[in-house]
Amino acid sequence: MPKLLAPIALILPLLLSACGEVKDTRPGQPVAHRQQAFKAILRSFEPMGVQLREKRYDPDKFLQQAQALAGLKDGPWSHFGPDTHYPPTKATARVWEEPERFAQEREQFLQGVDALLAAAATREEARVRPAYEALQQSCRSCHKPFKD
Ligand code: HEC
Repeated sequence: MPKLLAPIALILPLLLSACGEVKDTRPGQPVAHRQQAFKAILRSFEPMGVQLREKRYDPDKFLQQAQALAGLKDGPWSHFGPDTHYPPTKATARVWEEPERFAQEREQFLQGVDALLAAAATREEARVRPAYEALQQSCRSCHKPFKD
């Protein structure tokens, strides 16, 4: 039996590194959790942008997506605890050095999600479009100092 298991034990790390990902091995995996939470945000945010860019605004669909995003907006933040700046994070040290600015950017984002949801509820593309752009701006504004 051990002879059979050995090759699997050898292959598994290779498979993991083939994905190009460093594993978050810390208890509770805060880095992995916040990255997953951001990916979930992106997965609901991006299709809204596609609709607007391709001029296929669908008010019902957009509203659903905005609601989904509102449900995800609080996801990442509790996973930025002290001492959680380690690989595989893409966060910069400034997250912990400038907590007030980080909190401000987060607040801007949270308000932006609420504003987008309110705009989506009006079903007016003319309101949805600037709200979407403002929210996209808030992602950029935080990523610039706080994400590599
Ligand atoms: C308040 C700051 C802040 C805001 C606002 C913000 N992000 Fe981020 N984002 C980060 C930080 C910091 C990281 C790096 C997390 C890590 O790797 O530990 C990140 C990482 C990500 C990642 C990469 C996840 C991964 O697996 O590497 C995606 C995708 C992302 N953000 C999308 C978005 C989108 C889309 C928005 C806006 C709708 C947004 N973020 C708003 C700070 C922010």
